[in-house]
Amino acid sequence: MSFAIEILTLFPEFFDSPLSTSLIGKACDAELATVLRTNIRDFATDKHHTTDDLPFGGGAGMVLKCEPAVGALEAARDRNPSLPRIYLTPQGERFTQAIAAELAAGPGMILFCGHYEGVDERVREGWIDREICIGDYVLTGGEPAALVLLDAVVRLVPGVVGNPESLVEESFTDPRRIEHPHYTRPRDFRGMEVPEVLLSGHHAKIEAWRREQSEARTRSRRPDLIDD
Ligand code: ADE
Repeated sequence: MSFAIEILTLFPEFFDSPLSTSLIGKACDAELATVLRTNIRDFATDKHHTTDDLPFGGGAGMVLKCEPAVGALEAARDRNPSLPRIYLTPQGERFTQAIAAELAAGPGMILFCGHYEGVDERVREGWIDREICIGDYVLTGGEPAALVLLDAVVRLVPGVVGNPESLVEESFTDPRRIEHPHYTRPRDFRGMEVPEVLLSGHHAKIEAWRREQSEARTRSRRPDLIDD
């Protein structure tokens, strides 16, 4: 069974390049994942295909209307009733590697990309299962956030990354530690040399050095990971 992804968006073309290139593109070509994009505007109910309107109570910005949002969400739900419906929003739970792994272990996901000041609250109450934020900053819309989530999840779907060992060692697989440094040839680049231990062929020593480096890096760059 292929990992099923539905993207509900006002800008389906935003995803053209990442879906046709990169690891995500390869996963789709190999039918390990399928991605269906739906334009929320196709579900607008008025003749001008309006997707936004003024907020009740006044204030700046526009609100994504119920009818197109719910139309797109119900169509996706009817196609794929078992998939979690996820709304990308700065108000959601913070996205982590653990959430990526949890989603990759499931049958797929429906990603709802918001715009304007956000979507009418009733849509969130009735048609969304989970809200996710990719970091404490505000993007122009949900699309870049959906792409980040998509990328992090799809590479964890079995078969997508050729060598599964590369998933084991990398940063954040152990969420309390960031990765050790990497080097490749040449041994001497403009006088900057590769640490001697890596050339020693002594696997136990190399392992110990990498562990030390990883711990020191975590302490200096991301002490929050240790303190948590
Ligand atoms: N939409 C706008 N900003 C966002 C963020 N940081 N995470 C998820 N969705 C968003």
